Amino acid sequence: MATSHMTTTVFSAIVIILLSSAMAAQSSGDVGGKKPKPTDFMLEACKNASNWSKSYNEGYNYVTAEFCISTLLSDNRSADAKDRRDLALIPVDILKERVVTAGGNVKKMLHSTKNSTSTTARHLRTCELDYTATAGILNFCDALMRDYQGDRRSEDEDNDGPLNFELPECVDEANEAWGYCGLALLHIPGAEALVKEGDELQMLMNLSIALLSPYRLD
Ligand SMILES: *[C@@H]1O[C@H](CO)[C@@H](O)[C@H](O)[C@H]1NC(C)=O
Ligand SMILES: *[C@@H]1O[C@H](CO)[C@@H](O)[C@H](O)[C@H]1NC(C)=O
Ligand SMILES: *[C@@H]1O[C@H](CO)[C@@H](O)[C@H](O)[C@H]1NC(C)=O
Ligand SMILES: *[C@@H]1O[C@H](CO)[C@@H](O)[C@H](O)[C@H]1NC(C)=O
Ligand SMILES: *[C@@H]1O[C@H](CO)[C@@H](O)[C@H](O)[C@H]1NC(C)=O
Repeated sequence: MATSHMTTTVFSAIVIILLSSAMAAQSSGDVGGKKPKPTDFMLEACKNASNWSKSYNEGYNYVTAEFCISTLLSDNRSADAKDRRDLALIPVDILKERVVTAGGNVKKMLHSTKNSTSTTARHLRTCELDYTATAGILNFCDALMRDYQGDRRSEDEDNDGPLNFELPECVDEANEAWGYCGLALLHIPGAEALVKEGDELQMLMNLSIALLSPYRLD
């Protein structure tokens, strides 16, 4: 009894130390850089994105305004975003990194799969290539979005950059390319962690597409 009480006390003390150092780290972070707050533009864009996603997905599994806001706030560039392209670059940039990480995790599982001719190994190899292809398309979309100068191409001779509808269409392509792996993972035993990672990627894909939806042709 005494030992277990002692253990609990020590454990609580550790938790308190960890919590207070986490809080200290957070408040010192506030002093250095500015911690982003939601701007009116961001709130409105997220409401619109959520509304678009809700009707597009017929009310099922749609992008919530809360998910949109918390994702955008995780990057301090959101404070200075002037247009929807600036906002959509944030989830696309996050995706670029996450897709590379997820592809690495698929590779790890492939290396630990003993039977290289099994169905699991085949699916994983296809998935690995799929992640590589998706990362390539996302890099292209990112460059396209950065090159975008507004939809003035017809009036402005100097603006021969991408047209607005090309931005959501590009992310659609990344989403479609990745869709193969998204399904294949469901058939791989023991791939629950990869499936979970895939769901998070899918939410970010859906958010990027929803934020770019005003650029679509009707
Ligand atoms: C939100 O949608 C409304 C109605 O379609 C539109 O007038 C407004 O410009 C949109 N705002 C943003 C930030 O996308
Ligand atoms: C939400 O979307 C619907 C259908 O697309 C549209 O009729 C409505 O005006 C939108 N509401 C807001 C607040 O943007
Ligand atoms: C955002 O944070 C980074 C470091 O995390 C800092 O270098 C940069 O200046 C910040 N940008 C803004 C707009 O606050
Ligand atoms: C590997 O998987 C293939 C296809 O399922 C199967 O035919 C083969 O017997 C397996 N090899 C070993 C060593 O388990
Ligand atoms: C993403 O959107 C698609 C439709 O475009 C929908 O079928 C899917 O359930 C959504 N997924 C998530 C995780 O929100």
